Amino acid sequence: MREIERIGVVGSGLMGAGIAEVCTRAGRHVVVREVDAAAAEAGLARITKSLDRGVRSGKLTEDERDAALGRLHVTTDFADLADRQLVVEAVVEHEPMKIEVFRALDAVVEDPAAILASNTSSIPIMKLGIATTRPEQVIGIHFFNPVPVLRLVELVTSLMTSAATIETAERFAGDVLGKKVIRSQDRAGFIVNALLIPYLLSAIRMMESGFATADDIDTGMVEGCNHPMGPLRLTDLIGLDTTQAVAESLYEEFKEPLYAPPPMLSRMVEAGLLGRKSGRGFYDYASA
Ligand SMILES: NC(=O)c1ccc[n+]([C@@H]2O[C@H](COP(=O)([O-])OP(=O)(O)OC[C@H]3O[C@@H](n4cnc5c(N)ncnc54)[C@H](O)[C@@H]3O)[C@@H](O)[C@H]2O)c1
Repeated sequence: MREIERIGVVGSGLMGAGIAEVCTRAGRHVVVREVDAAAAEAGLARITKSLDRGVRSGKLTEDERDAALGRLHVTTDFADLADRQLVVEAVVEHEPMKIEVFRALDAVVEDPAAILASNTSSIPIMKLGIATTRPEQVIGIHFFNPVPVLRLVELVTSLMTSAATIETAERFAGDVLGKKVIRSQDRAGFIVNALLIPYLLSAIRMMESGFATADDIDTGMVEGCNHPMGPLRLTDLIGLDTTQAVAESLYEEFKEPLYAPPPMLSRMVEAGLLGRKSGRGFYDYASA
C-alpha cells in the first residue's frame, strides 16, 4: 500500500482551508490551488488564523504551527498539482464547475496511481469520475465543517471506484488524519446530508410560514433535543448557498418534495445573505 505524502487541495474556502490544514498538521506537504491571487491570499489567511487559534488553545505549539505553514504552498496554477498523489477538490457545490476541475486535474496530475477525490456534499461521484480518463481512481472524501474539529469522513464510492483506491483513501482519512470513516454508496446527499438537509429545510419552512421565530426553533432543538446548535444557526454555519445547492442535487436525484429548497432560502441566497461567511443569514454576524 502506498503512503500518501503529497496532497493537493482545489479551493480554499471554508472546507478547502480546513482540509489543507488537517493534512499539513498530519505532516504532509500540501499544495492548494485557488482561482486568483486574492482568493489564494484569503485562503492562506484562513488557514493561518485557524492554526493560530490552535496555538492559543494549546492544541499545537508555535513550532508546530510554523512547520505546518512551511509544508503549505498556495498557488493559482493548476500545473503545481502535477506531482500530487492525492488531490481533494473543494470548490463550490456546482456540478459544471466540479466537472471542469476534474477534467483539469486529469490533464495535469502525472502520477498514474494518483487519487482524485471530491469533498462534494451531494453530487454523484460517478459524474465526476466519468469526466476523467481514470474513474477507478475517483472517490468522494466528504469532510465535515469545521474540518479540524469534526471527526467524521464519509467515503463515497462510485460503481467504477477500485478497491485499491477505497483502501488507500480509507487508510489516509482514518490512520493519517485520525478521522472516523463511514462508507456510503453513490447517491445524492450520501448518508448525513440525505438525513440532515430535509431537517434544515423543514426549519426554514417553519419559520417562513410564521409558525415560530428563528430563536424559538433553534432553542427548541438545543434545549429539547440536546443538539449543540439549532437548525437555522447550523444552516448559517454551512452556508445558505451550499445548503441550497445540496437540496437541489437531492431534489434532482429523488424528486421528493421534502428536498425542494423553500422560496425563503432561494430569496436569501439571491440577496447574498449566505450565513456566517457573508456576515448575515438567519442571524447577524457583522458585529461578531
Ligand atoms: N460548508 C459546509 O459546511 C460543507 C461541508 C461539507 C462539504 N462541503 C462541500 O465542500 C465544497 C466547498 O464548500 P465550501 O463551504 O468550502 O465553499 P466556499 O464557498 O467557502 O469555498 C469555495 C472555494 O472554491 C474556490 N473555487 C471555485 N472554483 C475554483 C477552481 N476552479 N479552482 C480553485 N478554487 C476554486 C472559491 O474561490 C472559494 O474560495 C462544496 O462542494 C460543499 O458542498 C461543504
